[in-house]
Amino acid sequence: MSGVTRSRIIGTGVYLPARVMENAELAAQVDTSDEWIVERTGIRRRHIAADGEFTSDLATAAAREALLAAGVDAEAIDLIIVATATPDQTFPATATRVQAKLGMTKGIAFDVAAVCSGFLYALTVADAMIRAGQGRTALVIGAETFSRILDWEDRGTCVLFGDGAGAVVLRAEAGRGLSTDKGILATRLHSDGRYNELLYVDGGPGSTGTTGKLRMKGKEVFRHAVTNLSEVMLETLGAAGLSAKDVAWVIPHQANLRILEGTARKLGLGIDRVVVTVDRHANTSAASVPLALDTAVRDGRIRDGDLLLLEAMGGGFTWGAAAVRW
Ligand code: UT7
Repeated sequence: MSGVTRSRIIGTGVYLPARVMENAELAAQVDTSDEWIVERTGIRRRHIAADGEFTSDLATAAAREALLAAGVDAEAIDLIIVATATPDQTFPATATRVQAKLGMTKGIAFDVAAVCSGFLYALTVADAMIRAGQGRTALVIGAETFSRILDWEDRGTCVLFGDGAGAVVLRAEAGRGLSTDKGILATRLHSDGRYNELLYVDGGPGSTGTTGKLRMKGKEVFRHAVTNLSEVMLETLGAAGLSAKDVAWVIPHQANLRILEGTARKLGLGIDRVVVTVDRHANTSAASVPLALDTAVRDGRIRDGDLLLLEAMGGGFTWGAAAVRW
């Protein structure tokens, strides 16, 4: 078998704002309860960014930690992709803010907008660019301040989301083209724009001239999520020449514990194979997959050679998965 280039994850990092908001605090503001939120979603608390703390600040802090873990200097980074639906400004890209905050003056920096699937989209684009020879070392970041686009009077959405950031450093390495290679083995992405009205923000620079607030028909999103996610997970495993029994850890987007359980069940996997952080972080959109990944790397669950299956689904709809050998 001829040699191939693989993008290997060589470091992870996260940042969570200091302020923690428990369910009880929300119950004092809208007609909800800790019991309802825990039972229907699995969420117990979320982090909320401070005034003046922007998505680029969260992203930069996570990136610094990932660079440290990888033992890589910022100057060695060729490419920064930030997945976010809550950029600091309409333009320029938040990734260029991160680039400047890291003291970098060279390289490529841009954002991708795929909401909760953003990290999977960013990882796929970075992997493709690395394999195409556009760079050797990349920072892929998911960072969000969803607290700024929530309608804090809508109990159907304001209890579900939180702020945070997660980052990985990718580096080009020689692989053998086999499913035993380390690094990203396969990724698959999908979009279906017919579902805009089920999950969207009711504003934008080119329409209302305002930022807008998040709107969601949760029950319908839920139904699509379990089907779309289980399909793309199997498709991605198939593309890598692997099957569900090979998976050591599912690293999912953290929207709802019941979605994680339903999706794992469809693949014949127990919830004990799924990294769950939704209880502590709530739904952090593009940040949730790298936050969960870093959690399981640092607590020692993820071991050398483990097969990880990353997955996410969000507004658009967009969804995707990645099979990664650790
Ligand atoms: O990250 C992007 C992807 N997003 C998702 O994946 C979210 C997917 N959806 C979900 O996670 C769930 O659908 C929700 C958590 C949003 C809602 O759970 P559900 O079991 O689908 O509840 P529901 O929307 O059917 O609402 C059941 C009841 C309703 O009352 P009635 O009509 O039965 O009287 C709601 O008004 O619960 C009520 N309700 C609440 N009650 C207390 C809705 N939100 C709340 C709340 N507290 N926060």
